[in-house]
This record gives sequence, structure tokens and C-alpha cells, in this order.
Amino acid sequence: MQAAESARACPTCGGRMYLRRRQGDHAVAEVCECARDCRRCGGSGFVYETRQETFSVRVGAKSYDVLAPCPCKVLARRVERFGEAAIPGVLANADFDGYTPSNEAQDRAKTAAKQFAFSYRKDNPPKGFVLAGPCGTGKTHLLAAVLSQLVLEGGVQAKYVEISLLYATIRRGFQEGKSGGEIIGPLSEVEVLAIDELGKGRGSPFEMETLDELIARRYNAGRTTLFASNYSLEPARKAVKTAGGYTRSEDLKGQAKDSDLLRDRVGERIYSRLCEMSEFIELPGNTPDHRRTRQEMDPRGAPRAHASGRRPPG
Ligand SMILES: Nc1ncnc2c1ncn2[C@@H]1O[C@H](COP(=O)(O)OP(=O)(O)OP(=O)(O)O)[C@@H](O)[C@H]1O
Ligand SMILES: [Mg+2]
Ligand SMILES: [Zn+2]
Ligand SMILES: [Zn+2]
Repeated sequence: MQAAESARACPTCGGRMYLRRRQGDHAVAEVCECARDCRRCGGSGFVYETRQETFSVRVGAKSYDVLAPCPCKVLARRVERFGEAAIPGVLANADFDGYTPSNEAQDRAKTAAKQFAFSYRKDNPPKGFVLAGPCGTGKTHLLAAVLSQLVLEGGVQAKYVEISLLYATIRRGFQEGKSGGEIIGPLSEVEVLAIDELGKGRGSPFEMETLDELIARRYNAGRTTLFASNYSLEPARKAVKTAGGYTRSEDLKGQAKDSDLLRDRVGERIYSRLCEMSEFIELPGNTPDHRRTRQEMDPRGAPRAHASGRRPPG
């Protein structure tokens, strides 16, 4: 929320009027003490707004009062939606300021994610992005920062899913007599969905069909999707062309299981849609693993609080 004059001085929330924290596996938010007990609406959640409209040329413009939701109600709704976004609890407070790029690619990733989050428009949703790179390079951190900004500051409905947890949830659903579509349906309707760990899994027909259905449904509906992956976007080897000029799937099949290319992991159909839906950002293999550098910095070997986000010297 825009920091109100009175709330700007709040030392607890820094004027944001909400606080984020971990609750179990997920991140949740709550309205800060400074923004409770709304004086504007007296707790009713509604305020009168004066509007002007011309219904008839003869009568001219008339102003009238309408009952509109009070900003405190809007804030309460955003805070609730933040919990529904299911952002990982460890990254409850992840933001852009807490992300320190250590190379040019990370700088590009941060800029792209920030640009996406701050310029997102509901009426003209932009392309998403695929953030690929090695472990501990802040991919999930950036997804969490984007979703936080969208939900809490932009009022956008967004959700985070880790792909293997999604597969597990659907499998569990089967045992309870639910169809896969019952779980995929709502995810394909979320305004902005962040899919983490894309390409992970065994690549079983069930996993491929689930992923295909989710991505195809979002693609067809023109919804924005963000992705993070440990698999590379770079074509490390030449595609095998047939006389007709396209890659034969059997040429790729044998390699897909062991491949470290995202394209092989998700298959041509999904990869083709990703190309159209997203900007590709790749962090190089030598990007430092922040989890390890953080541990090396600590003489006792204990991980430090993630807020510092600094690289070791040298
Ligand atoms: N550039 C960075 N600046 C500050 N903190 C960072 C940076 N990169 C990573 N971190 C922190 O390191 C930890 C690991 O980051 P994160 O989980 O986002 O990595 P990841 O790229 O998603 O890794 P994985 O591929 O293993 O899922 C988090 O606590 C995150 O806040
Ligand atoms: Mg991650
Ligand atoms: Zn406050
Ligand atoms: Zn109010």
C-alpha cells in the first residue's frame, strides 16, 4: 500500500502498513498495528465517495454519494491474498533490495523481475519470464519478491507453485477421488502464476500431461506465467534436423531423461509455448551459490539471516 503520511513514521512496518512473516511452510502477512482501528470508516469497511455523472444532457452533470470500500478493507484483502499466494515461508521477506547481484546476468535478472513487478498492468498483462540458473542463485527469491510486490502493492491475485509439490498434490488428490483438473483448473485461472523448479521430476507421462495441461490452459487464456528452473536454456548442442527442417522427437527422446536442457526436460510442445509466453534469462554456471557463500562467511558455519544478502569479500 502507498505509505500514508501518518504511517510513514511507523517504525514497525516502515509505512507499508503490513508485515510479512513465515507461518509453517508458507509466507503470510498481517496488517500492521498502525493501520488497524481505521478512523476513516470507523471499522465498517466502507466510506462515502462523491461521484459526478451526466445521465441526461438536459439535467446536466449531477454529483451523488456512493458507498465504496475503504482503503483499510483493500489492505486487508491484499494481506489475505498474500497468504493465499503460498510463497515459501523462508522467503516471506524476500524483496528486490535484499537481492545483491554478483554478476551481470543476476543484475539483468533483478532488473527484469523488478520491471515486471512494478509495471504490471491488469488490463494489459505483460509477458512473463523464465529464470534459469544453478542452485542458490536467488531464482526463488526473485519470484517471491515479484509476487509480494504484485499482491501487496498492486492488488494482483498471484500464486506460487513448486512443480514437484504440485505433482504430489494431484497424486494425493487421485486417492481422494479428485481429478487432476480439479487442482489444475484453479491454477490455470490465477492472474499471475509462478511455477518453480520447472523441468524437475521423472518426466513420467503423468507429469508431462499435467504440465502440458497447465501451461497450455494458461497460454490459451493469455495469462502471465513466471518460471524458474535449474535447467539450462542454452542449446548446448545442435538440434537434429530432418530433411523437412524440424527436429525429430525420437532424436531427443533418448536424451531427455539425462539432459540438462530445459527444452529436453519439458518437451517441444511446452518449450514452444514458453518461448512465446516469456522472456528468457539465464544465470551462468559460475554464478555463486548464495547458500554456500553465506555459510562460508560465518566462522561457525551456521547460516546467517538472509536479509543481509552480501557477497563475501574478494
Ligand atoms: N543475489 C542474492 N542476493 C541476496 N540473497 C540471495 C541472492 N541469491 C540468493 N540469495 C538468498 O540465498 C538463498 C537461496 O536463494 P534461492 O532459494 O532463491 O535460490 P534458488 O536459485 O531458487 O536455488 P535452487 O535452484 O536451489 O532452488 C535465499 O535465502 C535467498 O534469499
Ligand atoms: Mg529455488
Ligand atoms: Zn506500521
Ligand atoms: Zn477503513
